[in-house]
Amino acid sequence: MDGRDLVRSLKAVGSVGAAQGLRTVRAAWRRQRADALGLTPRGAERARVPGVLESAEPGPGGGTLRFGAAELRITVTVSGAVFWGWDGAGPEPSYALAGRCPDPDPRAVLEPDKDGGWRVMAERVTVVVSRLGAIEVRTPGGVTLRRDLPPRWWEPAGGGPARWTQRSEVPADARFFGLGGRASGPRLRDGAYRLWNTDPGRAFAPGDDPLYLTMPVQWVVSDAGTHLVFHDSTWDGTVLLREGVEGAGSGHDRAGTSELRMEGGPLRCWVMVGTPARVLLAWASLTGAPALPPAWALGHHHARWGFGSEQEVRRIVAGYQERGLPLDAVHLDIDHLEEHRVFTVDPDRFAKLPQLAEELRQDGIRLVSIVDAAVKAEPGDAVYDSGKAADAFVRDASGQLVRGLVWPGESVFPDFTHPRVRRWWGRLYEERLAQGFSGFWHDMNEPTSFAAFGETTLPRSARHGLEGRGGDHREAHNVYALCMARAGYEGLAELAPRQRPFVFSRSGWAGMQRYGGTWSGDVATGWAGLRASLALVLGLGLCGVPYSGPDVGGYDGSPDPELFLRWFQLGAYLPLFRTHAGPGAGRREPWEFGPEVLEHARAALLERRRLLPYFVTLAQLARRTGAPYVRPVWWGAPEERALRDCEDAFLLGDCLLVAPVLEPGAERRTVQLPHGRWYDTVTGRAYEGPARVLADAPLSRIPVFARAGAVLPVRGDDGGLELEVWAPARGRTGRGLVVPDAGEGWEEPETERYVSRRSGRRVVVEREGEGGAAEPPYPVRIRGFGEG
Ligand code: NOJ
Repeated sequence: MDGRDLVRSLKAVGSVGAAQGLRTVRAAWRRQRADALGLTPRGAERARVPGVLESAEPGPGGGTLRFGAAELRITVTVSGAVFWGWDGAGPEPSYALAGRCPDPDPRAVLEPDKDGGWRVMAERVTVVVSRLGAIEVRTPGGVTLRRDLPPRWWEPAGGGPARWTQRSEVPADARFFGLGGRASGPRLRDGAYRLWNTDPGRAFAPGDDPLYLTMPVQWVVSDAGTHLVFHDSTWDGTVLLREGVEGAGSGHDRAGTSELRMEGGPLRCWVMVGTPARVLLAWASLTGAPALPPAWALGHHHARWGFGSEQEVRRIVAGYQERGLPLDAVHLDIDHLEEHRVFTVDPDRFAKLPQLAEELRQDGIRLVSIVDAAVKAEPGDAVYDSGKAADAFVRDASGQLVRGLVWPGESVFPDFTHPRVRRWWGRLYEERLAQGFSGFWHDMNEPTSFAAFGETTLPRSARHGLEGRGGDHREAHNVYALCMARAGYEGLAELAPRQRPFVFSRSGWAGMQRYGGTWSGDVATGWAGLRASLALVLGLGLCGVPYSGPDVGGYDGSPDPELFLRWFQLGAYLPLFRTHAGPGAGRREPWEFGPEVLEHARAALLERRRLLPYFVTLAQLARRTGAPYVRPVWWGAPEERALRDCEDAFLLGDCLLVAPVLEPGAERRTVQLPHGRWYDTVTGRAYEGPARVLADAPLSRIPVFARAGAVLPVRGDDGGLELEVWAPARGRTGRGLVVPDAGEGWEEPETERYVSRRSGRRVVVEREGEGGAAEPPYPVRIRGFGEG
């Protein structure tokens, strides 16, 4: 975005006058000057490659290999994940890891390979290192999944952080996924993907890259197998992807390539190999179990920048209630704050916020508050004063506070990479809890500072604590939001110990799921934005962040009724189901689009409510296994190429396949079904997969299929739990898991396991347990019987 766009949008929201234009120019100059003074120019650089292997020393789970000009350490851990680091880089310290690095697998041994190379063989993976430092990851059967060429470093002759490049080859048929939230996904086609969390400055659509939440977490899915590779460096970088080409007839294959160019940080990585479920289990055991959202957060949320007053919030809530539309949470954006200042309330327009919160709570609706990272730099502002006293704000190389420009005007930025600052910030949520808020929406935390030109973030020379190690913004930038999420989460857990915190954040990094989810930012209103919003949820889920969802209807502009409805119908099956829009955008209440849309939106809302126990179960399973609620259709069969290339449908847990309508005017659409029998959940018609089928998609609904044999927990008409069971095909059995609602506390309910099977003309459902099979303790409804 250029300066004019920024000033125009700032004016549009009425938050500032024309003088703001000048301030954005000043902010940009200030950032550039700070870097010119605070960073040493790189100057001449020396290139380095590892050289020739000189010696190898076995150690626990692998060992150390010494080359002429570099050293490589490899460890296979008990979780099956492989770690390697060059030049003495170990797995710790790391912002991604949930705790200590897992122990080495004592069965994995470093041994000589052919041609002077060495290899580590483990149960699920073999790693082969060549004489010149190329590293191959192979399946136990010896098939190559990935080949990393010897890395290359560029070291400033005068000292300082080295840049490095890692080029890798993958099978010609491989597809790439992941890298955090990418609007152009889920399949990442040829192109450059930057690793630098960025507010694009306007509503984004496919083609805008990078966005708010990037991660050096790459999935590669090929006929040979699936693997995840994580380069644990928080620095700025770029991944250049090029899918391979398979040679037809006698032609040769061209391998797929991935080239990672990093501006600094350790050259170290983790690789996880196996089925998608196994890969994410390994990822979650390394980087932490996803936080469990409370059940209300799995319902419907309505947000708006510009409710403007308590009366307007009441009016909107009444609109939902009068029309019988379920609503579980209302989000207050920065317009409820006093002059957009964090941890304040506008005393005129939101004079009795705790009372409003209590009223809503009586009706089963929670209030969620926006929490921006920036603090208005003004003596007298309570947060600024206490932060200054606590020495909480980021400083530049000369010791001055770094100032930027955000919604409240000139602002300073807490250094969340400092444990002391996180504790200080965490305590500030006490004010929010006293106002009656139940959830927290972290924003502007890339961190963003408006600027008329150049980058819209802090100067790279800005100093950060980095857990006591000390460093600058080049290293801290990408983990700023992750550390803010940690501060909020840990603060809330201490302030309200009996409640699980509910935090979600615009920006983040690997491991952020420990503290909450994301909503992926300001998606552009339009059919392309709708498509991008599904891509983001799928990509983030593969990167270990299972709870996310878009601004339904898009952030800017006015969706036409059909677009709004199709977005709403998709949103109803995504983990975070939230309508939201910015200032100047059209309305997003379902009744604003005419009676037909209202009727169909009501159906989507009621279906979401009916599926709530399933969402609660999926949230619990995500916590226990790392598996996202929303999974690519290739989840169970990554070897099926047609599924790898399917980007317009998804699996919701094990039981459902959802095929949203992503184009205008569609009344039916083709759906790629995986192996097995699938039922259209509305017509009950059975289809045999793998197949490409044509499904009805009238305006009233999007196609949703249930897997034969699925046992699905749903909410019955009386509000109690019921099992919806989809008849298994003849001679087959099915299964399903149920985890009952844990309430808002920390209890860990048991996973209930059910099996379904045919017995003559009946379908039998039983609960599995230690004492043998038992009758389910819930009413059972059989569906899909008679068709097969
Ligand atoms: C940017 C966020 O992405 C958006 O959701 C929010 O409405 C505005 N900031 C104002 O707080």
